[in-house]
Amino acid sequence: MPSIRFRLNGVEMDIDADPNRSLLDILRGHLGVTGPHFGCGAGECGACNVIIDDRAIAACDTPLWSVADKDITTIEGLGTAEQPHPLQRAFIAEQALQCGYCVSGILISAAALLKRNPAPTSKEVKQALDGNLCRCGSHNRMVRAVLRAADEMAAR
Ligand code: FES
Ligand code: FES
Repeated sequence: MPSIRFRLNGVEMDIDADPNRSLLDILRGHLGVTGPHFGCGAGECGACNVIIDDRAIAACDTPLWSVADKDITTIEGLGTAEQPHPLQRAFIAEQALQCGYCVSGILISAAALLKRNPAPTSKEVKQALDGNLCRCGSHNRMVRAVLRAADEMAAR
């Protein structure tokens, strides 16, 4: 079985596994990268989102073979506790999250949006987060946080 190569958070990977396994299974079960979470397992909730070539993609619904030679970013690649991404700072400042389960996928969707569109409108932020389920009612705060991060990144 040929191995599959891709870049994960800037690091070259060479994975020898069943190419039909899901990317989420490879990340969590094979590589110990646990930021992308398992929610629905059916591409419906966004908890497992990763950035592939500037798009937020459900890793649970993405076979390993399809990411050959791609650049993949998970929440681990966004920022650190010492050097958080502007989105992570903005989510804290706006108190835009309640659980730690769905929010990594939400941050990934927001980061993918800001990569493609550094100055989104409120409507564009809502559209970008539309595929991420959150049941705690933080949606408006999240939109404010993404706009705040965009402003901060533009001011740099
Ligand atoms: S776990 Fe992948 S979209 Fe829900
Ligand atoms: S932040 Fe996770 S349910 Fe709202």
